[in-house]
Parts: sequence; structure tokens; C-alpha cells
Amino acid sequence: MRKNIWMGLALCVWTSVTLAAAPAVTVDNKLLADEADGRNWAAYGRTFGEGHYSPLTQINDKTVQRLGLAWSLDLDVTNMQTTPLAVDGVVYLAAGYSIVHAVDARSGKLLWRYDSKSAEKAGKALRAGWGVRGLAFWDGHVFVGTQDGRLLSLVAGTGKLAWEVQTLNQEGLFISGAPRVFNGLVLIGNAGSDFAPVRGYVTAYDAKTGKQAWRFFVVPGKPGVADNAVSDKALADIAARTWGKDDWQHGGGGQVWNAMTYDPELNRVYLGTGSGAPWNWKLRSPEKGDNLFLASVVALDATTGQYLWHYQTTPGDAWDYDSATDMTLATIPVNGKPRKVILHAPKNGFFYVIDRESGKLISAEKLGKVTWADRVDAVTGRPVESGNIRYEKGEVNLYPSFLGLHAWPPQSYSPRTGLVYIPTLEVASGFSDEGVDKSPWKPLLYTPSYSGLTAGTTDVPEEAGKSILVAWDPRTQKAAWKIETRGISNGGTLATAGNLVFQGHADGKVHAYAADTGRDLWTFAAGQAVTGVPISYSVDGKQYITLTAGPLTGVAGGFGSVSAQWGTNARIHPRRLMTFALDAKTPLPATPLTARIKPLAAPQIKVDAKLAEAGGAAYIRCVTCHGPGAVAGGAAPDLRASALLLSHESFAGLLRSNALVSKGMPQFDDLSDQQIEQLRHYVRQKANETLAAKR
Ligand code: HEC
Repeated sequence: MRKNIWMGLALCVWTSVTLAAAPAVTVDNKLLADEADGRNWAAYGRTFGEGHYSPLTQINDKTVQRLGLAWSLDLDVTNMQTTPLAVDGVVYLAAGYSIVHAVDARSGKLLWRYDSKSAEKAGKALRAGWGVRGLAFWDGHVFVGTQDGRLLSLVAGTGKLAWEVQTLNQEGLFISGAPRVFNGLVLIGNAGSDFAPVRGYVTAYDAKTGKQAWRFFVVPGKPGVADNAVSDKALADIAARTWGKDDWQHGGGGQVWNAMTYDPELNRVYLGTGSGAPWNWKLRSPEKGDNLFLASVVALDATTGQYLWHYQTTPGDAWDYDSATDMTLATIPVNGKPRKVILHAPKNGFFYVIDRESGKLISAEKLGKVTWADRVDAVTGRPVESGNIRYEKGEVNLYPSFLGLHAWPPQSYSPRTGLVYIPTLEVASGFSDEGVDKSPWKPLLYTPSYSGLTAGTTDVPEEAGKSILVAWDPRTQKAAWKIETRGISNGGTLATAGNLVFQGHADGKVHAYAADTGRDLWTFAAGQAVTGVPISYSVDGKQYITLTAGPLTGVAGGFGSVSAQWGTNARIHPRRLMTFALDAKTPLPATPLTARIKPLAAPQIKVDAKLAEAGGAAYIRCVTCHGPGAVAGGAAPDLRASALLLSHESFAGLLRSNALVSKGMPQFDDLSDQQIEQLRHYVRQKANETLAAKR
């Protein structure tokens, strides 16, 4: 019966797409809860379960050798580290600063493009430099957040704006994550606590009208000030006890900047919350509490937004160990009985299996190299911390780094193998607050400075760490297999019922591995970094794989030589949407060769060491995009190779103008002539150092 309805729908899809690309299928709770029908990929993690799993099997471990490029489409955007959707044969993609595209999945033809103008509207928020990682779909509409904090609803068939609403309540915030839609409500969070004294919250809006339904704050506000009926009670009864009375002045943080999971079986929504503002616990919370609900999974009633339970993965976080990573829903055997669980690998390096009904910890084990804690206590659910990890005795080097063992690049979960496929990083970082001004925190908004730690802008060497694709068995809390991948900035994963796991890499390769054994079955050379998140869907019975390629972006793209070694160049490499199918043989369009960028030789500029030193500190404003040590990882041009820096006038002119804002280069009209000169000498010094080393 069900099947016939679907076939009928598929037929109308075909006719209507030829006419107007208006989706005929209704994306609603039923479709988003349907794990079995793989034709659409209508939400960030495909279904409510956030499994990034496709039940399609046409492309499988036997046929994958025949997989080839069906089409590609180059787009005029900055950032391509995003997850597309596919509904009724149309691929929807939000890339760069929320420029939304609809593309015919069969031909690769662009159907419409909507520019939210968020780079232009973002003002200083553009300096945070993320761009958007995905979008949502519901009832004929596409939903996307913007760097300047709006939530937009677009008509899927035409790309026309249906409504927009400003979701931010204070300066310092921006949006980089994808919204989620359930029960006719669109849920959106925000980011910013790394750079500003902000307070995390999520807001649910009516999908039809954009009217606010409820808002939940993650951390307490000013004591005695009632500001939100939905969250006030939980914050007062539970969270406030874990903070000092003046801590609210720092904002607190707890941004829900990435993961949110709707649970259709329990009508709940789980929030993955971020780290504190500032990161330094001693500054944020001098009385040293756990600081709830930072770095936690928080369960809310999806209809009302009321608090139900929380589980904190990192009490008193001091290392940016967000819990803002995927929370995948599964039902797995625990002590012989099926249990509804959340599978969660936050940045702190442990893999957690959490009971969805009660919020109780079932188990937690180290997913990779973790030195900040020995283990998680099974009874209390708390980590057993190692010594001096709170840098109370000076700098400490810890695994994982502030990048996390697993960050936002999505994990996938195959119910067929029972394994979770997780892109992980084995990188350490030093934590220290030596020399930090401990009087009230004075952040530079939207700039990775003074999060209460000693900030550095030095290059990250090529061999700074490694990445490992881990196939983790949540039933045994052990790896089934592991593959060492290259670099430290690879993409998220897609698992399919065809016994495959797909992942794109910063070195320019896309791989398909056997989901059960990890055997490398298929490789495609994209000619440039591929760090988008793959999806799969079918049209007219044909299965497709779609993902994006293009220069690395976001924080992971800025990591100096460790990213720059792959030679993807922000200036010359295309931002490319690629789609694969069996027996397709379309050649890739010409792609400039990857090559490490050479600094420009400019012996006529005599570098002043004092100016350069001061410039190193000022460079904190540029590091997110132009890379530490002035070595661009791919997100933005390498300043050591820029002719604009050869004269003060041309450099100052560019920084103070808004000429490149639409391309993602923020306006810096607040820099003094002296600061600009310092920056120029710093970059030129770095250029000379590299040139001298090569000789
Ligand atoms: C949010 C990310 C971001 C930040 C932060 C940022 N930039 Fe940029 N910048 C870019 C991008 C992207 C471009 C390339 C725009 C284009 O495509 O033309 C760029 C271009 C430039 C250029 C032009 C290079 C050339 O040769 O054409 C200069 C110079 C520059 N940036 C300097 C700076 C300096 C100095 C800072 C810090 C004060 C800074 N930028 C901060 C993203 C950023």
C-alpha cells in the first residue's frame, strides 16, 4: 500500500520537475522519520536520527568500481564545507555566506540561486569567518541561517523568500550551523562564545510564518532577572548552582552552534552545547563550578522547549571541548536488551552511549588519543581528570587539542554493520594563561583573541598531527577498524546500505571504504581539497552521491602548513559541487594544479623587527582566514604572496574598504595606520623567513 503511494508520488515528481522543479513529495515528520526510503536526503543527517546513512544499495561494495562523475557545477561562493540536501531530484545547497542553490540532480543544471547577502550584512560578524554548513527542508520550503543571524525560509520551487527573521539578541553572535525542522517548527542555534561574552540559546519558529514558538537559554543570566519562562526554572534549579553569582557577566557561552537532534519516538530535541565564554575556567567561573549546561547534551520537550534532562561531558570545561557534535539516535542491545540511545563523540575524545529516555550514561570510552582524563567514571558519569590539566602550574600539552578529537565533520551510523564512522584528529595543543590579563575579560568581538588563554599566531607545521577514520562499535566500545588518513582537515562521512563509507580528504581524494572491513574500494582524484559532507539519494531509480570540493574553510582550514601542504589555493581553485553515479564518465573540468604557495620576494621592503613583532599580535584579527604564521591553509589568499602588501597605501586602502566583503574579506576600518604598518611588516617578515629557508 505504502509502496504504491510512493510510486504515484515519484510519477508526479517526474512531470512536475520537468515543468517547474516544484517538489511534489511532502517533507514532514513522516518522511524525516522514514529510515527505509532512501530516495530523498531531506535533512542534514538525512533523517531525524542524524545517521548520515543511506539505505540505497545500487552503489555497493561490488559495483563501486563503476562509480564515476555524472556532473559537476562550479559556484561563485567562498566556502564549500557544507552538507547538501536532495529532494525530488533537486539538490539544494547552502554554501559560502548562505548563498542557496537548487540544482537538477540528473543534469547538474542550476535551477535557481538565492544570495542572502549575509556577507554584506554581517558587518564585524564576518570576521568570525565561518560561512554556513547546511540547510533544512520542510513542506516545500528551504530554511537557512546566516552569518548576520537571520533565519530564512525560501520557496523550494522558485527560490523566492517566504519570510525571514532576525534570531540574534546581542552583538557577538553569528550562525554557522544548519537549522532542524520537526512538528512544523524550525529550530536554530548560534555561535560566538569563543570570541565574545555571549550566552547560548536556541529558538524555535513556526515554519509557516516565522513566528517565535519558544526559546531555551543554555546558561543562567543575571540573577533575579526573569527573561525566559521556558528555561528560567531549569536554569535556577539546576544550572545556577554550578556558577558563581557574577559569572553571568561573561555571558557564559554554551552555544548550540552545530548539532541538534529531534527524537520522533520521544518527541524530544537534544541539544549539543558548546564550551564556555571565556574558555579559561578560572576567569569564567572563579568559584570553580561545573558550569551547566556547558559542554552537555540537553534534552528538551520538542513542543514546549521545557528542560527534561542533561548529561555534561566536560564539567568545568577549560579547553574548548564542546559537546556540539552529532548526537545520532539508535536502538542497540545493552546487556541483552534493546535500549534507545544517543551515540555521541564530543570534542573531548570520549565516545558516549547515553540512554535517551533518562539521560543516564550507559558507557564511555576513549575514541583515540586522550590525555586530559583517564576515564569516565561509570557510576558518577564524570571524567577522572589527569594532573595539572587546568594549566594551574603553567603550560600543559594535552590530547585532544582545542580542535577536538572529533569536531563538527559529521559521523555516520550504519544500522547494518552497527558501526559509527567517525573522522577523528590526533593533535595535541598547549593550554596556558600565562601573560593573560586576568582582570575582566576584554575580548575583541568575532576575533579568536583573549578567550582567557595565551593566544598564538604561529604556524602549525605539516606534521602537527594526523587524522584517523575510526569505525567504532558502540556495543563493545571498541574500534572495529581504523584508517590513518592524511592531514588534519578531512570531511564528514556517509555510510550506505551498500556496505560503503564515503569520505573526502584535504589531499584531494574521495574514498569509498568497505563499511564492514575498512578496505579501500574506490578513489576519485578531485584535484583539490574535498572536505564537504557526502550525501546519497536516487532519482528515477538511479542512485547518486553528491559532495562539494574547494579550498578549506572555517577554523579547520586556517591551520597553516598542516593544511597548506595540500596546495589548494583560495585564489585559483573552484568551489565545485560534484555528483557521482554508476557508469558515469564525465571528465572533471580543468582544475588548476595544486601547489604550495610561494611568497613574493620583495627585498626592497626593509622589515623592521619591532614593527613585525607588534604585527604578530595584531595578526590575531586575520588568523582565522589567512592562517597562523601568515601561512594560508586555503580559506583565503596567502598574504605573503600578495602584491598589495608591497605598499602601505594599497594595503591600507584594501583593509579599510568594503571592496571584497561580498567575497568574504571583512572591512577593517578600525585599524590605525600604525597597526596596518605593523601587520605589513609581520607578513613580510614571515615571507622572508620562508624564502630564506628555501634557499
Ligand atoms: C573572515 C575571513 C577573513 C579575515 C578574518 C580576514 N580576511 Fe583578508 N581575505 C579574506 C578572503 C576570503 C579574501 C579573498 C577575497 C577575494 O576573493 O578577493 C581576503 C583577501 C585579503 C587581501 C587581498 C589579497 C590580494 O592579494 O588580493 C588582503 C590584503 C587581506 N585579505 C588582508 C587581511 C588582513 C590584514 C586581515 C586581518 C586584519 C584579514 N585579511 C582578515 C578573508 C579574511
